[in-house]
Amino acid sequence: MELLKQKIRDEGKVLSDTVLKVDSFLNHQIDPKLMQAIGEEYAARFRDSGITKILTLESSGIAPATMAGLTLGVPVIFARKRKSLTLINELYSAQVYSFTKKETNKISVSKDYISANDVVLIIDDFLANGQAVSGLLDIVEQANAMLAGVGIVIEKGFQEGGKQIRERGVRVESLAIISSLENGEVTFAKEAVP
Ligand code: G4P
Ligand code: NA
Ligand code: NA
Repeated sequence: MELLKQKIRDEGKVLSDTVLKVDSFLNHQIDPKLMQAIGEEYAARFRDSGITKILTLESSGIAPATMAGLTLGVPVIFARKRKSLTLINELYSAQVYSFTKKETNKISVSKDYISANDVVLIIDDFLANGQAVSGLLDIVEQANAMLAGVGIVIEKGFQEGGKQIRERGVRVESLAIISSLENGEVTFAKEAVP
């Protein structure tokens, strides 16, 4: 998605060989026009998938997921990270291990909002090691819902997540794929011609 790649070139800050900071439009301040364009891009890519629900993870997945939900005309659910949830029986839960923080966190979604009748599109801001997406896939499975695929804003193609998720047979649509952050420079992967 050229508009997104240009925004990354203009405003992204390479913090190290593995970390890209995009606080000016995605992770702290949000650019609503860009999010709208991102939502429309997901809607176009998944238009024929019969999606009934979008599932994301708080907090940075919510903006792109909401704009996709607006365009597709379906509700958006964000998995919660907070632990203080008491109705254990009413929840789908999954463990998400963070390689960065070296800790495991539980994410949860109420059973009220995803059922076996749903076709779910998972959306998240970053795909790195794929742990967050794995947790969301786990929740879709627990609900016996159908999975349409995964929409990612920025995939770090040099980390393992994208490969692992695609090897499970899941359709992953990343709007920008970064092949390298070396020498303080963002290099994008060549996009497959559809
Ligand atoms: P992973 O295995 O799921 O890829 O997670 P990891 O522990 O590597 O990342 C932890 C958090 O950092 C996640 O956000 C993830 O989206 C984000 N992240 C991973 N790589 C990058 C990067 O290069 N740049 C930026 N800006 N973020 C990255 P989170 O903790 O869920 O936070 P939130 O922003 O959704 O609230
Ligand atoms: Na995220
Ligand atoms: Na994030």
